[in-house]
Amino acid sequence: MSVQFTYGVRDSEQAAVDAVIRFVSKKELIPGDTAAQIIQPQIDDALRALHAKGLFKADAEQIEVMPTLGLYPSAHIVFVGLEQDGGATGLRLAAAAAAKALKKMRAEKVQVLLSEVLLEGSQAKLGAERSAQALTEGLLLALHVRQPLKREQNERFTLKEVAFVPQAAATTPEEAALWEQGIAKGKLYAEGVNLARDLTNLPGNDLTPERLAHHAEELARELDLEIEVIDEWSAAEQRMGGLLGVGQGSINPPRMIIIHYKGDPGSEETWGFIGKGITFDTGGISLKRAEGMQEMISDMGGAAAVLGAMRVIGELKPAINVIAVIPTAENMPSDRAIKPGDVLRMMSGHTVEIVNTDAEGRLVLADGLTTAITRGATKLVDVATLTGAVSVALGTQATGAVTNHEGLLKQVQSASERAGERIWQLPSYPEYKKQIMSDAADLKNSGGRYGGTITGGLFIGHFAEGLPWVHLDIAGTAWLESSRGWEPKGATGVMVRTLIELVVHHE
Ligand code: BES
Ligand code: MN
Ligand code: ZN
Repeated sequence: MSVQFTYGVRDSEQAAVDAVIRFVSKKELIPGDTAAQIIQPQIDDALRALHAKGLFKADAEQIEVMPTLGLYPSAHIVFVGLEQDGGATGLRLAAAAAAKALKKMRAEKVQVLLSEVLLEGSQAKLGAERSAQALTEGLLLALHVRQPLKREQNERFTLKEVAFVPQAAATTPEEAALWEQGIAKGKLYAEGVNLARDLTNLPGNDLTPERLAHHAEELARELDLEIEVIDEWSAAEQRMGGLLGVGQGSINPPRMIIIHYKGDPGSEETWGFIGKGITFDTGGISLKRAEGMQEMISDMGGAAAVLGAMRVIGELKPAINVIAVIPTAENMPSDRAIKPGDVLRMMSGHTVEIVNTDAEGRLVLADGLTTAITRGATKLVDVATLTGAVSVALGTQATGAVTNHEGLLKQVQSASERAGERIWQLPSYPEYKKQIMSDAADLKNSGGRYGGTITGGLFIGHFAEGLPWVHLDIAGTAWLESSRGWEPKGATGVMVRTLIELVVHHE
């Protein structure tokens, strides 16, 4: 999908657009004779009449599509409710709501009117660049849905052209340049997220660990980044017992993928981004129940988030260093699979008693952290669909966080605020660690049901070697049963934009 975005003044071409989008905030609809023009006197009257009846309240994400019947040079106007002080999230949501309406109308060419209310409200605080980025992201993220693999490929609606047009005042070249930068960033960020979604939506038979490594290699080649793909033989040489243990039950062997981005070669500081890449999680010998197991194609959502972020980082080239590590395996039951009671020796040398083969993510991630550290990472962020328990605690509304370093978590949290992705910290009191102490080894891989997200996180943190570390559990946020805002049903690509914001420099 490639939508062309432009910014500029209105021209005679306007007649050719399928729809005009106009964001409306509540204060524009307050009755009174001083009410300024919204779009055109008669159409404004019709909109105000709907408002008087309580039908269009300009609530956030509310849509009202009106045919213009010759009163305005576009067939339809799409009015979209905009929260007045909703910031970037408000703009992203409004644009997403508009995108869904455009999809229904099968619009190809559209104009987005930038009203004075919008420019003075949101943009005055956010600035032109971030406003443009938020609107572009909202449109592109909401347009992207899972493509089914059907015999007959349905003809797809495609939005082709979007023109952002200031409604009143003439714009300065400086302003236009900021809008164009924001649009370019928005497109790039959305591409990163949509890459993560596409990878996550791939069925398990199309995305084995080896195939995931191929996708990573292709990405690295396009971005001219150094990549290592460690196969099962090299993994054995490097004693990656966690990765190999989880992968041994499957005919599809595991891989450790490492992508190097060096934007600041002079610096020792290096981010380590580690993404859980379980291409399918059956639970192994501790088999999951059948109900809903198909969702476990998304158990590489963390890996996808890291790859999606690397795509954007590789393009934007910020002056920082990142090592992206993706331990990837398929968790299967078989005669060769690990069993409860087995003890694994991890890459770090620590031993782990397996008490539940379905707690496999932490095993591959432990070796992922060790890999990142041996390659020079100095601060670690892991992203993983780690526990069902995180959805019990937070539902689908927030990603759970566990950390050993409040300062690093603050950075991650402020990045997530800029991205409009919610993160909620869980406590990491040392007492929780008792739940994963083992009689047979250094640790056991499950601490039971109580505080499952915390003990899962702390297991991973045990392998951080004291480096600042943040764990992001996206098991509740990486996959949705139904769409919302700018997120579709299925894979969401959550945390891609947070990871980018974390390393891209902000004034
Ligand atoms: N991949 C699952 C977690 C998960 C559950 C992700 C639901 C997305 C939706 C993970 O590997 C898992 O099975 N975790 C276990 C841990 C337990 C055995 C300690 C869980 O949550 O039940
Ligand atoms: Mn599992
Ligand atoms: Zn899993």
